[in-house]
Amino acid sequence: AWTPHNIADDAIARVRQQVGDKKVLLGLSGGVDSSVVAALLHKAIGDQLTCVFVDNGLLRLHEGDAVMQMFAQNMGVKVIRADAEALFLERLAGVADPEAKRKIIGKTFIDVFEAEATKLKDVEFLAQGTIYPDVIESAGAKTGKAHVIKSHHNVGGLPAHMRMQLVEPLRELFKDEVRALGLELGLPREMVFRHPFPGPGLGVRILGEVSKPAADTLRRADHIFIEELRKAGWYDQTSQAFAVFLPVKSVGVTGDGRRYEPVIALRAVQTIDFMTAHWAHLPYELLDVCSRRIVNEVPGVSRVVYDISGKPPATIEWE
Ligand code: XMP
Repeated sequence: AWTPHNIADDAIARVRQQVGDKKVLLGLSGGVDSSVVAALLHKAIGDQLTCVFVDNGLLRLHEGDAVMQMFAQNMGVKVIRADAEALFLERLAGVADPEAKRKIIGKTFIDVFEAEATKLKDVEFLAQGTIYPDVIESAGAKTGKAHVIKSHHNVGGLPAHMRMQLVEPLRELFKDEVRALGLELGLPREMVFRHPFPGPGLGVRILGEVSKPAADTLRRADHIFIEELRKAGWYDQTSQAFAVFLPVKSVGVTGDGRRYEPVIALRAVQTIDFMTAHWAHLPYELLDVCSRRIVNEVPGVSRVVYDISGKPPATIEWE
């Protein structure tokens, strides 16, 4: 019978069979799929696994530290953290077009990942968190933004000179099976049921040109929103929720006068397949707490708005 326990045992046996005593490299993003692969491979082959975690400076608040804490400190997984914030921001300077930003972020990710991979000796396998829906998507002619990125990061985007064999232990699993497997392997519930986070990260949630001050502001606002959603029990009732940095200047008034400052938009959606989505009807009281906390705790923000657009026509992300 199918149980998460059997799936785990079977996957562990298959990985051991495939890689023997060889070394395996994994790009760890902190998302559900690559995290489950990390936990699985660590259990299957221990020290033969090395993970590379690329911090592109466009991650959520404390994300890099949390990933290192969970995998390196708590689980004893070998994780190399590549702090590449400066490189990403440098290459993104002056670029406002969303697709151009996506390309730069995707390309820079590969450059940084390859540079780290090249430093490792005798690695023969590359592990990836490809899941069954990714396989289907790549086989079809679907053109979604997520697909474009996944084609780089997840399915067969292996640079020729790296000549490694792929290890894809989740290739036959649906998302709910991947989650069940993650729990079985001891990953915390909170991480296994995380909302999806796009590859380009805050790069497509800071509209227009990306800058460090904007990323820092957005991170703090986003963190407050997610914290309040969790507190109110709404996180698990939404499929994706996040803050967006709008580079328009709106007027704010305080004791010392009028200021012109950027706007923070909050977005929370409910969806089954992410192809269509409804905006989440969050309670006014919850929105009120978020708005007050954000303007009080995040310097440089004096206006917060809530996005009430469905998909279609509005996409889930703002870029
Ligand atoms: P949209 O905005 O197209 O998003 O309604 C649908 C889902 O895809 C995610 N998304 C991306 N994921 N790279 C990714 O890995 C991307 O460039 C990208 N753009 C959108 C989005 O977060 C949502 O879950």
